[in-house]
Amino acid sequence: MSKQMQLEKLNIEMLACAKCSLRKGCLQVVPGAGSAEAKIMFIGEAPGKKEDETGAPFVGAAGKFLDEMLEAIKLKRKDIYIANVCKCRPPENRDPLPAEVAICWPWLLAQIKIIQPRLIVTLGRHSMERFLPGFKISQIHGKAMRRGIEGMGKQVFYTLYHPAAALYNGSMREMLFKDFKRIPKIIAKIEEKK
Ligand code: URA
Repeated sequence: MSKQMQLEKLNIEMLACAKCSLRKGCLQVVPGAGSAEAKIMFIGEAPGKKEDETGAPFVGAAGKFLDEMLEAIKLKRKDIYIANVCKCRPPENRDPLPAEVAICWPWLLAQIKIIQPRLIVTLGRHSMERFLPGFKISQIHGKAMRRGIEGMGKQVFYTLYHPAAALYNGSMREMLFKDFKRIPKIIAKIEEKK
C-alpha cells in the first residue's frame, strides 16, 4: 500500500478517536496535512481555534508565519508534512496534559512510521519534550540531534521555537527565522550521509 493510502487509512481511524476527553470539547480531530512522501515533518503542539474550525494544522496566525518561513527556504506545504503532538484542541488553548499527550502518542508514532521523514522539526517546547526529554529549548534550538524514538529507530531532530511564541517578540522572531533558514543545509547533510 502506498504511503498516501496508509496515511488516509490512518486518518479515518484518527477521526473516529475519542480516547481522551479533549474530543468532547473540540469540533473535530485535526490529523495533519501535507505530503506522505515528505522528507521533513514539522510537529507542533495542538490545534488552536482556527485549526479546530477547519480541520487543518497551522492555519491561524502562527501558520501564516510558518508559511512565510517555508517560503524563505523555498518550500511549500505540499513538500512537507505538518502534524501535532495532540490531534484535538485543548479547551481555551491550554497546554495539553501529559496524559492527553500520552494517549495521542500512538497516532503520531504511526504517522512518523508511515512517512519516515529524514528530519523531524519540533515546533515549541511541548513537541520537543515528547522526543527530547530533559533538554531545555533555549539550549537546543537550532541544533540538529540524532536520537532514538521509543518504538522506532534513530531519527534526526531539529528543535525550533514555536512560531506563535515568536509572533509578537521581535528578537525571538529573528532567532526563529535564523534557525529555520538552516533547515536546507541540515537536510543536505543528512542526504550526504545516506
Ligand atoms: N499551534 C500548534 O502547535 N499547532 C497548530 O496546528 C496550530 C497552532
